[in-house]
Amino acid sequence: MTFGNCRVVLKLFLVIICAKLSHQTPAITAISPEQIRDIGSSVTLNCTIENASRYAVSWAKRHRDQPSDSVALTFRTQLTINDPRFEVNETMNGTTMIYSLTINKIEATDMGTYECQVIISFQQKNTSTVNLLVKHPPVISLSETTTSVNVAEGLPTQLSCAASGYPLPTISWTREYNAIMPHGGHSYRGKVLKLDKAHREDRGTYYCIADNGVGKPDKKMVSLEVEFPPRITAPRPKVAQAIDYDVELECKVEAYPAPAIVWYRNGATLTSNSHYRITNIATAFEITNSVVRVITIDKDSYGDYYCNATNKMGHDVARINLFESVLPILSPNASSK
Ligand SMILES: *[C@@H]1O[C@H](CO)[C@@H](O)[C@H](O)[C@H]1NC(C)=O
Ligand SMILES: *[C@@H]1O[C@H](CO)[C@@H](O)[C@H](O)[C@H]1NC(C)=O
Ligand SMILES: *[C@@H]1O[C@H](CO)[C@@H](O)[C@H](O)[C@H]1NC(C)=O
Ligand SMILES: *[C@@H]1O[C@H](CO)[C@@H](O)[C@H](O)[C@H]1NC(C)=O
Ligand SMILES: *[C@@H]1O[C@H](CO)[C@@H](O)[C@H](O)[C@H]1NC(C)=O
Ligand SMILES: *[C@@H]1O[C@H](CO)[C@@H](O)[C@H](O)[C@H]1NC(C)=O
Ligand SMILES: *[C@@H]1O[C@H](CO)[C@@H](O)[C@H](O)[C@H]1NC(C)=O
Repeated sequence: MTFGNCRVVLKLFLVIICAKLSHQTPAITAISPEQIRDIGSSVTLNCTIENASRYAVSWAKRHRDQPSDSVALTFRTQLTINDPRFEVNETMNGTTMIYSLTINKIEATDMGTYECQVIISFQQKNTSTVNLLVKHPPVISLSETTTSVNVAEGLPTQLSCAASGYPLPTISWTREYNAIMPHGGHSYRGKVLKLDKAHREDRGTYYCIADNGVGKPDKKMVSLEVEFPPRITAPRPKVAQAIDYDVELECKVEAYPAPAIVWYRNGATLTSNSHYRITNIATAFEITNSVVRVITIDKDSYGDYYCNATNKMGHDVARINLFESVLPILSPNASSK
């Protein structure tokens, strides 16, 4: 306990003793209504007390999480906290006292409930409260906001977002590239973006935006991954080439998680060797291009090739038929031998 606090307690004791000797009963007859301020501005909270002259008065701030608890800010005309932004003033008019608390250069943390107190005895005090609301920009709460979600296709899921700020921010959602939202449209308003059934088209990056008109809106990225079985498309299901030339057979596989891709011919797995060269190239949006280059075609090379893609969600197969042409088919990429 500091020397200052000690003095305050002693004074309180003397004030209560004096008050007990008189018969006036103090009453708080008025207090300022709720005040709304911007950061950096100032406010004076006024408390009108009748018959208070012999009693100790005080301003306190209630704890946000524990309203029954409060921290004393002033005792009569003295500050009990060391913050030069605060001022206290006591003016008497007859038996009426106006006891005021001024807060300068308001900060976001000044927001809260302030209590005017008349201390009647150690056990009893008369109190009245006024709320100070401080306008401050939105801040998205990381602990209450989804960062990423993985969901199997067809199952329900949801993305959540919460933000603090005053006035209470509105929460809305948009998608990267301004893509269509699962419910249609380009944005959705609400804290929770619910999907009854996740579709592969819903996967991607979402943005939660919190706005309250004060300062800049806050924005956080939320990623949604939808797991779905492979779907194969063969851009050219029938491919012609002449003997002694090379050819490329191509499958486009869309899947998440990334699939295992295997090429088959006559029931046997193809591997890269002197006859085949297999390349898998992952492109954007969970699409893998799988290409088998058949090197120096001979009579046995003609027939059906299968590309088979598997992930934990399922599998898909595509057939590509290679048939003989009399003249070599030249493409800029598939050069002749
Ligand atoms: C102030 O005290 C006087 C004397 O005790 C009493 O008559 C009066 O009602 C009190 N005023 C208020 C507002 O309580
Ligand atoms: C409190 O009283 C002062 C002086 O009369 C006045 O300037 C101020 O606006 C009052 N505060 C409120 C919140 O009404
Ligand atoms: C207290 O308030 C009165 C009336 O509003 C004013 O005249 C006086 O200057 C103030 N005193 C202080 C120390 O602010
Ligand atoms: C003091 O109180 C009286 C009556 O209650 C009122 O008429 C007068 O305006 C008050 N004076 C001040 C300075 O507030
Ligand atoms: C203040 O205290 C008096 C006496 O204890 C009581 O009659 C009155 O109701 C109290 N007023 C408030 C606003 O708490
Ligand atoms: C493709 O792979 C899956 C899973 O390994 C298997 O069940 C399926 O029979 C394969 N298809 C072909 C044509 O090999
Ligand atoms: C040929 O290569 C170019 C780029 O090098 C590519 O854009 C194109 O798709 C390829 N064409 C075929 C048929 O593979």
